[in-house]
Amino acid sequence: MERIPVGISGVGSYLPEKILTNDDLSQMVDTSNEWIVERTGIEQRRIAAKSQAASDLAIEAGIKALKNANTNPEEIDLIIHASVTPDYTFPSTACIVQHKINAKNAAAFDMNVGCSGFVYAMATGANFISSGIYKKVLVIGSEVLSKIINWEDRNTCVLFGDGAGAVVLEQCDDGFGILSYDLGSDGENGDVLIVPAGGSRNPASADSVNGKLHSIQMDGKAVFKFAVKIMGESTINALKKAGLGLEDLDFLVPHQANTRIIDSSLKRLKLSREKVCVNLNKYGNTSSASVPIALDEAVKEGKIKKGDTIVLTAFGAGLTWASIVIKWNREDGND
Ligand code: COA
Repeated sequence: MERIPVGISGVGSYLPEKILTNDDLSQMVDTSNEWIVERTGIEQRRIAAKSQAASDLAIEAGIKALKNANTNPEEIDLIIHASVTPDYTFPSTACIVQHKINAKNAAAFDMNVGCSGFVYAMATGANFISSGIYKKVLVIGSEVLSKIINWEDRNTCVLFGDGAGAVVLEQCDDGFGILSYDLGSDGENGDVLIVPAGGSRNPASADSVNGKLHSIQMDGKAVFKFAVKIMGESTINALKKAGLGLEDLDFLVPHQANTRIIDSSLKRLKLSREKVCVNLNKYGNTSSASVPIALDEAVKEGKIKKGDTIVLTAFGAGLTWASIVIKWNREDGND
């Protein structure tokens, strides 16, 4: 079957206004700016307002991506929303976004693939276009992680932040756009990064609330080991699937979890620091929003040029990983 080439026609992001610095955190738990910067690279993160849920951030980012793509909401055929902090168990946050942006012709669904969610969602959305089923897909990653953090747990509360990013996917010129992807999972080790309660295994109860089982629990060392191995490996696998090698890679947009994880991936990929987007110092780990926020910044800063081979790569809960190779199809650095 002939595949239609699919590229990004618009990108946008939204960060809540409130800034929480490392010094602020050191007033809340036994930590310090020095420890957090040295072990993670994070200096501050954004925190959503009490009234903001994932859909509110998603709408802001989605509207910016639509504008950037010169696309009306009615032209969107499908909205995929990736998140681990949806507004509700159901209805899906994608449906809330669909209604509020007036995308009246769009199908809509959510995906939960941990921090790999946005990259998984992009691969999914692209297939609807390359197969000829849909013409325009809005893919959003949006998280309000501050609402599922145990603010007394210094092992996790220093790592995460809130934000949203989005892209519009549509047909692009031959030879450009998404060239390949590498998606994977390792469910056996899923318990190293988990919110234990609130689902059908451990429904909400007084005990689950008292035990803080509705917040993120993590074996940081195990996740670190996995991440360092998988980001480089998955990037190389995705490039291979596109018939490319490391020498072809112009720019990397990695999941923003920890600069030490990114730096060790760069070593493996033989890539210099100028060829990678790092903004986790400002936003922390925003889970499935981190890759599209980083992509939006890199595009706006003119770091990605038409014809560049770029890779979006992420890892996260599941455990999961995902990488996408794109031959950049837009003239950027000028919007
Ligand atoms: N401030 C000060 N000390 C802290 C701390 C904090 N915020 N958090 C943990 N510590 C302490 C630990 O309790 C430990 O103390 P101990 O030796 O007395 O037990 C010490 O610092 C070292 O902890 P360690 O776990 O060895 O640190 P680390 O170098 O592995 O860094 C992480 C911890 C969490 C930063 C790191 O493991 C990591 O980034 N993991 C991946 C997490 C991630 O990316 N998760 C999301 C994936 S999508």
